[in-house]
Amino acid sequence: MSHPSKHLLAIEGLEPPHIADLLDLAESYALLNRSGKTQRDLLKGRTLINLFFEDSTRTRTSFELAGKRLGADVINMSVSTSSVNKGETLLDTASTLNAMQCDLLVIRHAQSGAPALLSQKVDAAVINAGDGTHEHPTQALLDALTIRRHKGRLEGLIVAICGDIAHSRVARSNIHLLTTMGSRVRIVGPPTLIPADAARLGVEVFTDMKAGLKDADVVMMLRLQRERMSGGLVPSAREFFRFYGLDAEKLALAKPDSIVMHPGPMNRGVEIDSAIADHPTRSVIGEQVEMGVACRMAVLDMLARRLPRNR
Ligand code: CP
Repeated sequence: MSHPSKHLLAIEGLEPPHIADLLDLAESYALLNRSGKTQRDLLKGRTLINLFFEDSTRTRTSFELAGKRLGADVINMSVSTSSVNKGETLLDTASTLNAMQCDLLVIRHAQSGAPALLSQKVDAAVINAGDGTHEHPTQALLDALTIRRHKGRLEGLIVAICGDIAHSRVARSNIHLLTTMGSRVRIVGPPTLIPADAARLGVEVFTDMKAGLKDADVVMMLRLQRERMSGGLVPSAREFFRFYGLDAEKLALAKPDSIVMHPGPMNRGVEIDSAIADHPTRSVIGEQVEMGVACRMAVLDMLARRLPRNR
């Protein structure tokens, strides 16, 4: 099945076969990457521009690697040294890049909806690399691929997403993807960090972390998104760790073969204990990063199939 849109703006709205196709394709790229082979003819002659208005280590680097491994010309636009600093708007910046015949535009922006707005103004395929508190679709894909590789399926798994749910685009994309694929999703956090629309998301809500972790197959930890908070929604970091930080005692409540995930960047000692983050068998955080490259290769491949042959 082909991707239903020219763009990838969100997980919400994708059907199970669309998600399964992307994960299957990503799995083949994961194997290709491990073999050391490349497929540099697939995006030959295509231009990919990374346009990041917010900081990033993993997402920007992995889109760059993914594009290069498929043969695209990749440009990382540094917003901090661009004409945005002279007052140029997002839409004018996008129109300028569009005039340079860019094929794939990867954008991260603090404003929810910015990639969707851009997609209406440019010819390029637009990929949302994280917009405000809305969505981070490629993160959810790489998380799902990592889970599937360890558990063999998504359906029926109990996934506990813990921490700052209210401000997390990672949580939102994961909730849409995992519920669509039949997982049982729990969101776990203090009442101040549970989103107001939790009831419509099809999840179970827990404010007691020990109850939320009971018998979980997957424990996904999130950092406090202080840059998106207005006012003091949490007590001190030390108190947050006591009630909502993942340590060995709390993890013991999940299934003995449960896996621990974190999208990064991590704040050790705040939402996760270092011993758990670095646990040799339970933590799959490094593998998440590896799957990020494979998933982004799959997304670029899938969207490139819908691009016009000659621009
Ligand atoms: N998970 C994630 O989006 O990480 P970066 O902010 O480093 O891209």
